[in-house]
Amino acid sequence: MLEIQSDVPLQSLNTMSVESNARLFVKLTHPSQLSEIVSAAESHQLPIRVLGGGSNIILPDYVEALVVLMANKGIKIIGEDDQSVVVKVQAGENWHEFVTWAVSQNFFGLENLALIPGSVGAAPVQNIGAYGVEVGEAIERVTVFDLVTNCEAELMPVDCEFGYRDSLFKKEENRYVILNVVFRLEKVFSPVLGYGPLAVLKQKNDLTVLDVYNEVVSIRTEKLPSPEQLPNAGSFFKNPIVTSDKLASLLQAYPDLVHFPYLTEYKLAAGWLIDKAGFKGQSGENGVGCYEKQALVIVNPEHASAVSVMKWASRITEVVEDTFGVALEVEPRHW
Ligand code: EPU
Repeated sequence: MLEIQSDVPLQSLNTMSVESNARLFVKLTHPSQLSEIVSAAESHQLPIRVLGGGSNIILPDYVEALVVLMANKGIKIIGEDDQSVVVKVQAGENWHEFVTWAVSQNFFGLENLALIPGSVGAAPVQNIGAYGVEVGEAIERVTVFDLVTNCEAELMPVDCEFGYRDSLFKKEENRYVILNVVFRLEKVFSPVLGYGPLAVLKQKNDLTVLDVYNEVVSIRTEKLPSPEQLPNAGSFFKNPIVTSDKLASLLQAYPDLVHFPYLTEYKLAAGWLIDKAGFKGQSGENGVGCYEKQALVIVNPEHASAVSVMKWASRITEVVEDTFGVALEVEPRHW
């Protein structure tokens, strides 16, 4: 029996730890509950908002919606050949636990994405990425419930329109409820070690997947605050993309500007820009500030509201725009 609750606090369900309340709230433990949830939302004339691990979202004080917490669990191997294995994972599984399971089975491809907070169902939404790997590369298909057509559908990677921290699920906001994700993981280990701090592993003899996983865990633990200790939502802005002309003029003024080629353009390190603009370790209203070791992460030690968080973000955006002529785009979603 579905238990729909009223006026439910969401503070412990978002890693930024902003105070927020949902008008209605339900925990989905099995995909079959979705049709009943959709009917309930219709009868209350409320939209549906889906919550996964709450690690990439800035919640408003009040959510005038039926909030659905994805809590369906299960990891199942559904196909296998000499090269790879196909695994279906329910949306409510914890991302890092799934990566840890894959590594323990010697299934390769996700080890660079260890310790990313959040749920499996949220991973395709922002196409989570780290240390040279994006999750879209390992996705075979995504099962969704389409709230427009009221039907279940299977989306192939091409349908998902994966890009840098982007996908169909961001473009068509609130249309799809991701029910499960099917991954193709490799049985042949080909480590991705191009990202600076992982390059040390290239020297290592008999490198194993566990070595890569442990190194990623240790880099992240060193550089990024754990939300339990210091509320945050990971990188708060995307790394901006600029033309080669823009890059050339910036390099004249700032020869040490951190940049990487990206398709036909260049990606700048937003963390570097924010740091250079003087925000690293600084804070504003109600304690909201930039993490002392990584300026791209906005931290919320005093559990301030979304208003204070967005005020701080706007200040950063303005100063970065004035200083470098570069527009920053907020990465987490806000309802
Ligand atoms: N930098 C500074 N000052 C800072 C922060 C960074 O100078 O305060 C410089 C660093 O020295 C480095 C460069 O900026 O040269 C890039 O920094 P880092 O390697 O930490 O990576 P990032 O570009 O800031 C991205 C992702 C992270 C991901 C890492 C590793 C985005 C928006 N962020 O961060 O993803 O873990 O690369 O691949 O693409 C997330 O999305 O929540 C996230 C943490």
